Amino acid sequence: MTKLEIYKYGEQILRKKTEPVTEINDKIKKLVSDMFETMYGAPGVGLAAPQVGVSLRICVIDVHPDGKNSPLAMINPEIIEGENKVLAEEGCLSFPGMYEKVKRFEKVTAEFTNLEGGRTKIKAEGFLAKAVQHEIDHLDGKLFIDYLPDFKRKSVEKEIKRKKKAGAW
Ligand code: CO
Repeated sequence: MTKLEIYKYGEQILRKKTEPVTEINDKIKKLVSDMFETMYGAPGVGLAAPQVGVSLRICVIDVHPDGKNSPLAMINPEIIEGENKVLAEEGCLSFPGMYEKVKRFEKVTAEFTNLEGGRTKIKAEGFLAKAVQHEIDHLDGKLFIDYLPDFKRKSVEKEIKRKKKAGAW
């Protein structure tokens, strides 16, 4: 396994819609295992392929239910159902040190292809539901700051600009 570089906000690839995976081969399996290593090493609870510079529809998640590892790799995922919007704080490995309140579904059902090539459904709620929505957004070039009110998003962008100037981004 290899720890990959995590792309920060400002990189064009984070805004690109990803391509679906057409075949789960050794290259894809290696990428998924590298993504897990990168996510655990960050540390973080979710990572999408564009964040490591690969524009493919793949994300990995582990929100450690009951304090244990519970790795979830999703290939070509889609949200197929959502209910009840809630406001909760979240962050992103492409926005180190920044946390903002975002409104998302409290419960979601997602469909994805697993590493064995089968199509699977997952029902998620709470923290896991938030992570699933956040990571699938990445695959469509959407970032959590897109949900913020204008003034807030502008202040986040301003802070990032300041950090860039100081060489801290
Ligand atoms: Co993110």
